[in-house]
Amino acid sequence: MQDKIKFLSQKIDTFTANGSDELEALRIQYLSKKGEITALFNDFRNVPNEQKREIGQLLNVLRDKAQNKINDLKEALESAQVVEKGMDLTRTADPIALGTRHPLSIVKNEIIDIFSRIGFTIAEGPEIEDDWHVFGALNFAPEHPARDMQDTFFIEQHPDVLLRTHTSSVQSRVMTSQKPPIRVLCPGRVYRNEAISYRAHCFFHQVEGLYIDKQVSFADLKQALLYFAKEMFGEHTQIRLRPSYFPFTEPSAEMDISCNLCGGKGCPFCKHTGWVEILGCGMVDPNVLNECGIDSSEYTGYAFGMGVERITNLKYQVKDLRMFSENDVRFLQQFKAAY
Ligand code: DAH
Repeated sequence: MQDKIKFLSQKIDTFTANGSDELEALRIQYLSKKGEITALFNDFRNVPNEQKREIGQLLNVLRDKAQNKINDLKEALESAQVVEKGMDLTRTADPIALGTRHPLSIVKNEIIDIFSRIGFTIAEGPEIEDDWHVFGALNFAPEHPARDMQDTFFIEQHPDVLLRTHTSSVQSRVMTSQKPPIRVLCPGRVYRNEAISYRAHCFFHQVEGLYIDKQVSFADLKQALLYFAKEMFGEHTQIRLRPSYFPFTEPSAEMDISCNLCGGKGCPFCKHTGWVEILGCGMVDPNVLNECGIDSSEYTGYAFGMGVERITNLKYQVKDLRMFSENDVRFLQQFKAAY
């Protein structure tokens, strides 16, 4: 048996094939059911027990050697055919068209990055919401016009179900499910019943911030927003806070940054005021804390909300909002190097 194995092993070294038919003939001769190597495996039964181990190993090696040799010959035949057909395998491959990150994603990620450096983590909530999370918990009076059909998309036959009009709804979700200290950033898509034009769309994106702890003050809010403005728009950026009104914050403010185009001198972009508005903010109204199960005599908090499209427009001067959702690659590819 050992001699036969040795003989076949030497024979394998001399295998050649001039075409796939010859190769198949070799396979049949040695490895098929009636092949010579298979026959040896059948004879294995008769090998005395004390030799079984050694012979068994030799047989396995022999079979693998034959199989590998046949595989190698097959590969060689195939590449010979490629050359024959005039294919050049050394040519570099055609470039794969890589996609680019969407400008809104770039800016959203940058906002997240900036706030994560001062301890904010991400929280998300559903886009299809109920009235309580979007309005009720946030101190909107029952007859508040934001609930109007003209502003909000409701789900037909379900007056309590609607598409969220702001990411402030995630505040309600976080406050009812977590205990302070809370420090979250809530990015997401929001919907409003608006006619689509260059300056309004029926959906857009916001990032909401919420910080609740003992003794959080308006000064903390201002500090965090100043830090954000400088990181986002450059070290020389200044901010100003104007008194405003939101149902869920008291006091409330709108924040402007010094115009990043003219540096505050005044230009058509900032309507010659030197300032551009970028977000709404304020101290979380005690009514909101209490409604969400947080004791307003123990905790205070601040919140802010900004439009991602707005920030993106400021950074990249995109004049028409519709560009963001048209998927025109000529537009999208301009942001290749941005992040
Ligand atoms: N939810 C407001 C909007 O959609 C934005 C906003 C303003 C969010 C003030 C806040 C805030 O958290 O404090 O216009």
